[in-house]
Amino acid sequence: MIKKGIILAGGMGTRMSPLTKAVNKQLLPIYDKPLIFYPLSILMLAKIKDILIIVNKGQLEQYKKIIPDGKKLGIKINYLEQDKPRGLPDAFILGQNFIKKDNVAMILGDNFFYGQSLSKMLNICTKIKNGAKVVLHKVINPEKFGVAKVKNNKISIIKEKPKKFVSNLAITGLYFFDNKVIKYAKELKPSKRNELEIVDLLNKYRKRNKLSAEYIGRGGAWLDTGSIEDFYKTSNFVSAIENQQGFKIACLEEISLNNNWIKKKQVIESIKFYGNCEYSKYLEKIIS
Ligand code: DAU
Repeated sequence: MIKKGIILAGGMGTRMSPLTKAVNKQLLPIYDKPLIFYPLSILMLAKIKDILIIVNKGQLEQYKKIIPDGKKLGIKINYLEQDKPRGLPDAFILGQNFIKKDNVAMILGDNFFYGQSLSKMLNICTKIKNGAKVVLHKVINPEKFGVAKVKNNKISIIKEKPKKFVSNLAITGLYFFDNKVIKYAKELKPSKRNELEIVDLLNKYRKRNKLSAEYIGRGGAWLDTGSIEDFYKTSNFVSAIENQQGFKIACLEEISLNNNWIKKKQVIESIKFYGNCEYSKYLEKIIS
């Protein structure tokens, strides 16, 4: 079982400037919570309790105000700063002392997942012992993402933002790796845009026949909140679900309670921490 997870939540957020000049993108709101709550909730749903959040240099204090440590959630939060956006695989080089000899999951700080069969899928993903696993989802704009072509259940091609059509299966920002990921990441050379590329890392596994895929499927949603338009789209999605059905997406304390990681007492501490707000009212409702 994979027990460690990384949230890569740095990046310059240039596509969303001026909003991101003073505040990191992952701390901006998706409807009623900061974006970072959503990827964190996914790792927690995957039953991962040991979490490393990688943030931009200089922005650590902002993050710690919202998620000081994992105590109130019954998890362990570690932080690391990335001094410049060297690419997604940099997470495994920076995070090697956190990963140690274990396997590891990684989720990008700006990725949003939702769907009924998600927990079941996460449970399958965290079971990998050898190799790597990606999570694929059909999209209408594959040129905006890394994509995977799948033939007879095998991934035959992987490409980052292809100009010419390769496949409509996007590689979402949720990955599961065995411990070789540290070694492979260190072997990578920067691409033309001067970044270590996640597709190059995944290709190392694919070439060795060690890359497999899971699918979110039609009943699930995946949204990459890379642009302002996507932010509003995702906010509207969360608002529609929450206001229609009366439960919250990515309520961290609720997930911890369901996982039996915390008791009522810690939820009361969280309510005090958040103060008088809608989120706290929801927490009061779930413990009453
Ligand atoms: O969202 C899924 C896509 O994410 C994948 O389909 C692509 O294969 C993958 O390359 C990535 O593409 P993006 O264009 O969305 O990557 P971006 O550079 O926007 O970075 C994604 C997140 O990771 C973002 O929250 C910022 C953070 N980041 C990025 C880099 C390059 C870091 O924290 N450090 C970095 O060095």
